[in-house]
Amino acid sequence: MPALRPAPPFCPSHPDFLGWEVRERGLQHQSHTPLGSRSSRFQTRNSAPGVGAGPAGSPRPASSGPLLALSQVRGASRFGPVWLASFGTVRTVYLAAPTLVEQLLRQEGPRPERCSFSPWAEHRRRRQRACGLLTAEGEEWQRLRSLLAPLLLRPQAAARYAGTLHGVVRDLVRRLRRQRGLGAGPPALVRDVAGEFYKFGLEGIAAVLLGSRLGCLEAEVPPDTETFIRAVGSVFVSTLLTMAMPSWLRRVVPGPWDRLCRDWDQMFAFAQQHVEQREAEMALRSQLGKSEEDAGPGAYLTYFLLRKELPAASILGNVTELLLAGVDTVSNTLSWALYELSRHPEIQTALHAEISAALGPGSSTQPSATALSQLPLLKAVVKEVLRLYPVVPGNSRVPDKDIYVGEYIIPKNTLVTLCHYATSRDPAQFPEPNSFRPARWLGEGPAPHPFASLPFGFGKRSCMGRRLAELELQMALAQILIHFEVQPEPGSAPVRPMTRTVLVPERSINLQFVDR
Ligand code: HEM
Repeated sequence: MPALRPAPPFCPSHPDFLGWEVRERGLQHQSHTPLGSRSSRFQTRNSAPGVGAGPAGSPRPASSGPLLALSQVRGASRFGPVWLASFGTVRTVYLAAPTLVEQLLRQEGPRPERCSFSPWAEHRRRRQRACGLLTAEGEEWQRLRSLLAPLLLRPQAAARYAGTLHGVVRDLVRRLRRQRGLGAGPPALVRDVAGEFYKFGLEGIAAVLLGSRLGCLEAEVPPDTETFIRAVGSVFVSTLLTMAMPSWLRRVVPGPWDRLCRDWDQMFAFAQQHVEQREAEMALRSQLGKSEEDAGPGAYLTYFLLRKELPAASILGNVTELLLAGVDTVSNTLSWALYELSRHPEIQTALHAEISAALGPGSSTQPSATALSQLPLLKAVVKEVLRLYPVVPGNSRVPDKDIYVGEYIIPKNTLVTLCHYATSRDPAQFPEPNSFRPARWLGEGPAPHPFASLPFGFGKRSCMGRRLAELELQMALAQILIHFEVQPEPGSAPVRPMTRTVLVPERSINLQFVDR
């Protein structure tokens, strides 16, 4: 068995099959086909006869190669902005130009389908669980989306959680202080900051969803939260393996499917325990004639959902999927932000000055959510980090009607992969694309195409947690920089990104948190 590191880009569960790093012996798992004639029709998911059978006269399967999000860049430079590829049993059309990505997304119908999500949806079917927003499709998705959007997506809705998040961020700062100097190295060194930020990600999203604190940022981390975080990482790996395998192979090699079910079962069990605990507390408070608002300053989403009388199974499906969506995304972005700021002290100094000024004279508290959202450099830093390290390096859509993209007609039901990693590192859009330059978002140089960097996706199916994620990132960065000067580990080499479904650092990022 070749050593594989599965690494498909997408948000929390889409199959961008340009994500496998093949180690040692090669595995013939992917072929690329440049697309040929003008207005040729691609095959559909259901009708395509075979890998690489593209438009008439054109199919020439390209060789497999080591595949990371970086392979989007290689694919685009080799085949141009459109090509056809297959991975396992699935074929997909890749789009790697902002104009084409825009064209596709602007033709979306009222209920865009991101992808089939088949193994996750299959898990729900087999276990008789309800889908959450990530895995739901069609009318069910639309119903959930219209219910959740006012609670999460509107800027004023996310700001409602600032009080809850304030305590979480305070505990993160305390934990970073405690983690310094454990192990070899300088006294202010914190090893594997991503590991710390996963705990922060889970603590933050759980506080918003459940209103309860899990204790992930305490000295002793509760074992069930460690299990949850491990399951999130593991489910992405098993998802890709499962999707790549034809269904008959599952009987012969059951490991990936069994692992996927075990991971989801663990996440559901975790969510169920906490939702039930909250429900019991709410029932008790109501018996005592107390309102939920008496419970404390933090608002929490489950309470709002219960008030909407969503069935219990659906609340659980949504809470579980939102917990998963909230862990890797915010934490990896925070890791990359501090990694880049530690390597660009002049930008860190300017950002620290901007944040300190927003605190007001003599104040040591957190700036308000509104004040933070108006700090230009802070916003530019987050945008630049997400351009360089889009958590979801490749998103997808399955159009419900034939659509025109560039010179081609893509028939309905074709899986189309949007190469966000490639477009956001395109030198034609972003001069010196591999450099961390937040000033490019502050009017320095020509403006890029608006679809060149789309870290939260676009349109009706865009990220539901965007406002919350931005708030968490802004609050965490502000508090960390108020308390610490962040410096790289002495002598450390640059860290590259790799795809593990979401984009993650290829090895641990160690940083020094020096008291200011
Ligand atoms: C830096 C942080 C994050 C990034 C970069 C990110 C990115 C994305 C992207 C690219 C998509 C797909 C959008 C599309 O298909 O157009 C998505 C979907 C989604 N995200 Fe996020 N995300 C982040 C944080 C979060 C958080 C914290 C939550 C939880 C509250 C969340 C919940 C979701 C959900 C539920 C969807 C599915 C929406 C739907 O299908 O209607 N995300 N995210």
